[in-house]
Amino acid sequence: MNSPGDTTTTRLAQSRAESAATRAEASPATLSAESPLPPLRPLSVAPMMEWTDRDFRFFLRQISRHSFLYTEMVTSAAILNGDRDLLLQFSRVEKPLALQLGGDNPADLARCARIARDYGYDEINLNVGCPSDRVQNGNFGACLMAQPELVAECVAAMQSAVPDLPVTVKHRIGIDRDAQGRALDRYEDLQRFVATVAAAGCRRFSVHSRIAVLGGLSPKQNRDIPPLRYEDVFQLKRDFPALRIEINGGIRDLDTAQDMLDKTDGVMIGRAAYETPWIFARADADFYFADGQPRNDRQSPARDSQNVPATGGPTRRAVLTAMIPYLEERLGQGRKQHQVLRHMMGLFAGRPGARAFRRMISEREYPEQDPEKTIHALTELIAPEILDESPQPST
Ligand SMILES: Cc1cc2nc3c(=O)[nH]c(=O)nc-3n(C[C@H](O)[C@H](O)[C@H](O)COP(=O)(O)O)c2cc1C
Repeated sequence: MNSPGDTTTTRLAQSRAESAATRAEASPATLSAESPLPPLRPLSVAPMMEWTDRDFRFFLRQISRHSFLYTEMVTSAAILNGDRDLLLQFSRVEKPLALQLGGDNPADLARCARIARDYGYDEINLNVGCPSDRVQNGNFGACLMAQPELVAECVAAMQSAVPDLPVTVKHRIGIDRDAQGRALDRYEDLQRFVATVAAAGCRRFSVHSRIAVLGGLSPKQNRDIPPLRYEDVFQLKRDFPALRIEINGGIRDLDTAQDMLDKTDGVMIGRAAYETPWIFARADADFYFADGQPRNDRQSPARDSQNVPATGGPTRRAVLTAMIPYLEERLGQGRKQHQVLRHMMGLFAGRPGARAFRRMISEREYPEQDPEKTIHALTELIAPEILDESPQPST
């Protein structure tokens, strides 16, 4: 998507990024010591198209106040040419929140980063992990793993557009083939990618721990079929101790996430956050102090134990009740209740009443214009002791 007029600047920037990368590769462990790190984010909910829209994020926030949230991927073209408010507006309670961008044109991405800052996002994240054909045709997403210099250029452009915000990258551990059909699936390819992009100013890498297969697998298959290689991500943290390395892929509960923090700086959970959102009810108590500071901060580990909530987290009745004014507000903005409620179907997953709860939402068996009655009808399906259950303590 680079215009021909950009070529000279692109080449110059590329050669700068390349020489920086060569320097960085010489000594990855000393990388980035000179620039500030983005905040530690021990636990996040992954960006997911059509799932992590603002309505889901508001709902998840009723369960965990401090987990870091991401938008769905929004392309730079959509932001520059589309309905910006529709794409970018959010409620303040969703913060801390990152906008995930899709694109490969440094100047466009830089403009989008500036726009996003004005909307109040806390971080800008670039998608280098999506394997869909549509995204590959636009030369962004996972296929950019074959062009680390271009990713470095995009990061550098965005970072200089918004020096006050972290610019981060979400990517795979590799791809099955580049434009010439060569596999880039060895750890050394991943290491080179990270060194190159880090040299341009990226300080947090969120790594989906499997390669992307760019030919023959759908995006859905690409989330299950290539085997997970967590060890590559752990190795990345050992090789780049000065960077924030966040691990993603196949993590379904907070105990596993907690264990992963021994070897990484953060854990990103995707499908399990959507399908079983109640697992996040322990997130604030287990991963953060009451003031929202992460508990895995090795720089200031000794904190007043008073600051740690002994029990924490809401009940599901409280979560549902908090959705009433939100549904009313969204109805007033022209949304349908279903657009919000569909994200809540997993709230009772695995508990008695879950199926009836899901069915009432999916079959829209509630009064369309009356959120209070809707939520009341939904709570009637669940036993009071489950509605009022406290989050399960971590084991
Ligand atoms: C419905 C769906 C949509 C997704 N959309 C995006 C996206 O927009 N951007 C992105 O970087 N990853 C996207 N992903 C990938 C997730 O962010 C995550 O990397 C992947 O699901 C693996 O994590 P998990 O095993 O915890 O789900 C999507 C995943 C799902 C299930």
